[in-house]
Amino acid sequence: MAKTLVVYATRGGETKSIASLIAEGIRFTGAEAKCINITEIKKEADLEGYDGYVFGSATYHGEMMQAMKTMLFLSEKVNLEGKAGGAFGAFGWSGEAPVRIFETMKNIFKMNMVNDPLMLKSSSLGGGIKMAQDYGRRIGEKL
Ligand SMILES: Cc1cc2nc3c(=O)[nH]c(=O)nc-3n(C[C@H](O)[C@H](O)[C@H](O)COP(=O)(O)O)c2cc1C
Repeated sequence: MAKTLVVYATRGGETKSIASLIAEGIRFTGAEAKCINITEIKKEADLEGYDGYVFGSATYHGEMMQAMKTMLFLSEKVNLEGKAGGAFGAFGWSGEAPVRIFETMKNIFKMNMVNDPLMLKSSSLGGGIKMAQDYGRRIGEKL
């Protein structure tokens, strides 16, 4: 069974809710999805051994959260080339974080990315639940 890792960086919990829904969507396709807070990623080995990766951060002050920046530097040391990938995050008005994460996964790690990052103001507004689940489904279908 294909295995995926969903990692979220959050302050208020909104990005965590989106992460859980993405993981659900991945599971709908029959793949395994482990969904964890970024605080649980401490070393390269914590990132190794998955077929797909979905990284998410809320946007604060026009940027991704510091923990996600640190984890992306750690991810650079793990060979993620060709693995399925996606990026997401809760935002208020500008939403830089998911875009920056997506670009790094695509251009630096050379991952096999889904079409676009997922940016949601809230998982509970405007069809957010389905959008997040469908995003997970698209990642599952790439595995
Ligand atoms: C101090 C502060 C700064 C913020 N800066 C931005 C920003 O630059 N761009 C943006 O799109 N949203 C910004 N937001 C909104 C958050 O991204 C939004 O509340 C999001 O849902 C938080 O996600 P989280 O609950 O996962 O932490 C900011 C919120 C706060 C409290």
